[in-house]
Amino acid sequence: MFGLHYNLERSAIGLVVFIVLVASIGGLIEIAPLFTIDETVEKAPDMRVYTPLEVAGRNIYIREGCYACHSQMIRTLRDEVERYGPYSLAVESSYDHPQLWGSKRTGPDLARLGNKYSDAWHTVHLTNPRDVVRESKMPAYRWLLRDTLRTDDLSNHLTALRTVGVPYTDEQIANAALDAYGQANPETEAADSVAERYGAETNIRMFDGVTDRLTDMDALVAYLQVLGNLTDAAHQPNQPEAE
Ligand code: HEC
Repeated sequence: MFGLHYNLERSAIGLVVFIVLVASIGGLIEIAPLFTIDETVEKAPDMRVYTPLEVAGRNIYIREGCYACHSQMIRTLRDEVERYGPYSLAVESSYDHPQLWGSKRTGPDLARLGNKYSDAWHTVHLTNPRDVVRESKMPAYRWLLRDTLRTDDLSNHLTALRTVGVPYTDEQIANAALDAYGQANPETEAADSVAERYGAETNIRMFDGVTDRLTDMDALVAYLQVLGNLTDAAHQPNQPEAE
């Protein structure tokens, strides 16, 4: 053992080769699972893409740093499955660029938040969490209801997502701003075309109760309400359900 070391240290090239060999073991262990990525990621034919309004909401979620306190990944541990629902599957994050799994839970996991609360609850909670959860220490985000949502750049956001593999069509990209408006304004023609382009399951409603314009709140609530609902894959019979 020490003889080998002694000899290695006297041969510069041998030492370098040995160091590279040893150092690459960790790298290989990290890289090897990616060779089977196609079999690892589940199939989800029903997977739908985020609408432009939801993409805008996701960007606000990132901007406000919600991921610093909330994870979006339910682990396979029993207590997590019982608390939050079926554990997260890889395919559920496949349109998330960047992923928002997070690494810290000051607040609860949000991976299956969609439809848990009403839009009105979210609007009140985000404006001042203490109004609905008395002991909450989540910050208040009062400006979300005040600030008008920027939509003129949404086509660019969709284009960027398509570049990294999200299957947006040309039509969806071209109509991004109109679709954002339509999703929060039911009873308009624009709302009908959102359902056509993104499917009948899309949540089309006024999310924040502000009637005269789109706000950042509309977008963020639309995003929160779709969390865990892009695909049904995790609820299929071969996946574990909380008892
Ligand atoms: C400083 C940490 C912190 C930050 C930042 C934060 N939250 Fe929270 N959040 C909490 C805590 C703690 C709770 C639990 C108490 C409550 O419900 O208010 C919570 C609860 C929630 C809930 C209710 C979840 C459930 O299942 O009951 C939602 C939804 C939520 N937060 C969304 C957000 C969003 C969206 C943002 C960013 C705009 C955000 N949070 C930022 C700490 C945080």
